[in-house]
Amino acid sequence: MELGSVIQVLENKTILVTGATGFLAKIFVEKILRVQPNVKKLYLLVRAADAKSASQRLQNEVIAKDLYRVLREKLGANWNSFISEKVTSVPGDITLENLGVKDSNLVEEMWREVNIVVNVAATTNFDDRYDVH
Ligand SMILES: NC(=O)c1ccc[n+]([C@@H]2O[C@H](COP(=O)([O-])OP(=O)(O)OC[C@H]3O[C@@H](n4cnc5c(N)ncnc54)[C@H](OP(=O)(O)O)[C@@H]3O)[C@@H](O)[C@H]2O)c1
Repeated sequence: MELGSVIQVLENKTILVTGATGFLAKIFVEKILRVQPNVKKLYLLVRAADAKSASQRLQNEVIAKDLYRVLREKLGANWNSFISEKVTSVPGDITLENLGVKDSNLVEEMWREVNIVVNVAATTNFDDRYDVH
């Protein structure tokens, strides 16, 4: 598949990305927002207890990173409104039912809206306990 057609496919699509604070997801999300700013929305699942801490983690561990500098500079004064429009943080945990998303309105909204799921949440510690994961 040509890059151009991948970009086209993503136009006006809504994507749920898990593992949003992770290495791969950060790069993936930045690339989507940069090459296809007409993506409709990205729901970014962040391991967190509530909406506030998910949003804080997303801001501190993803959006504020230097990786997003090119896009931030390109958008200038529109950066904050672009991010608010395109990105929604979702507190959750993929090991739980409904991905641990407690807000039933948000679950329904995602069922309705999401076109593509990109699951990159994973335990990447090599010394974790087998009975926990
Ligand atoms: N990095 C590479 O070069 C590479 C190459 C090929 C394949 N992969 C594969 O791609 C996947 C992701 O790799 P990565 O390098 O991005 O890993 P990573 O940096 O360790 O990120 C893992 C992400 O998954 C999240 N996570 C873990 N358990 C979760 C749970 N129960 N619910 C929700 N989120 C959870 C982590 O959240 P917290 O921040 O809360 O821990 C983190 O955001 C892995 O399967 C890896 O084997 C990676």
